[in-house]
Amino acid sequence: MVSEISKETCPRPFLKWAGGKGRLIQQYIPYLPKNYQNYYEPFLGGGALFFYLRPQRAILTDINAELITVYRCVRDHVEELILLLKEHKLRHGKDYYYSIRANSSGNDLEKAARFIYLNKTCYNGLYRVNSQGKFNVPLGKYTNPNICPEDLLRAASATLTTSKIKQADFTDILNYATGSEDFVFCDPPYHPVSSTSYFTSYHQSSFSEKEQEKLRNICAELASRGVKVVICNSDADFIRNLYKEIEFKIYIIEAARSINSNIQKRGMVKELLITSY
Ligand SMILES: C[S@@+](CC[C@H](N)C(=O)[O-])C[C@H]1O[C@@H](n2cnc3c(N)ncnc32)[C@H](O)[C@@H]1O
Repeated sequence: MVSEISKETCPRPFLKWAGGKGRLIQQYIPYLPKNYQNYYEPFLGGGALFFYLRPQRAILTDINAELITVYRCVRDHVEELILLLKEHKLRHGKDYYYSIRANSSGNDLEKAARFIYLNKTCYNGLYRVNSQGKFNVPLGKYTNPNICPEDLLRAASATLTTSKIKQADFTDILNYATGSEDFVFCDPPYHPVSSTSYFTSYHQSSFSEKEQEKLRNICAELASRGVKVVICNSDADFIRNLYKEIEFKIYIIEAARSINSNIQKRGMVKELLITSY
């Protein structure tokens, strides 16, 4: 019997996440490996590719500890999380938003519900913290934000059941991916294409050229072990040169530019998809 998969029950990202790859996946498919046993995503974010591929064996990591707590709670305690989100939904309003934003105390489940609530109601689903690590994005302008997408959370929970989820810097991947059965997908913060473009801050520390170089060196090490590595990044000479040096293959992906107030700058932008094979 073919079961019906509706928009809400088909696993997909349950968070809005800057740099989410949902719209680009169809362009990635021809370049992704066909055969692998273990999937690794060291810059998890919204996890668009993970939810699309739904691998049985996955190790999902991100440096953002709050984000990782959310994934663990979705995987292990989804019904309790839904109850807390329903409470946020009932009480949602401007004053409520700012009172929740100001109070980051609570157990992991409460913190996860707060994170999802703020993600669904803040300006553009941005994640930005101040120098003390406190979330500081203002309230967004939504008339009816989807604060508790229950079916989507349950679908995500079921998809995550067999995954290992942990907070880690991307360098940790070297401890896991060891051979040709392994597929590592890296979606790091993008290198800026011009001096006027800037990073969305996912975490207190920014992702410098040094970090991009470190990532390239790790990808080279993984490739030497036979691991299949795929990286995406902006179409910047700096990035092209990094991966040309280690003879990775570089493909162009066309992405829709996020809305720009300058009409000349709207339209498509080129990005890179880089593979070790
Ligand atoms: C472009 S986003 C990933 C988007 C994701 N692929 C998606 O589809 O939503 C980059 C992610 O890298 C994480 N990150 C930044 N620096 C990191 C580091 N040093 N180690 C691991 N993760 C890091 C950020 O927290 C953020 O979630």
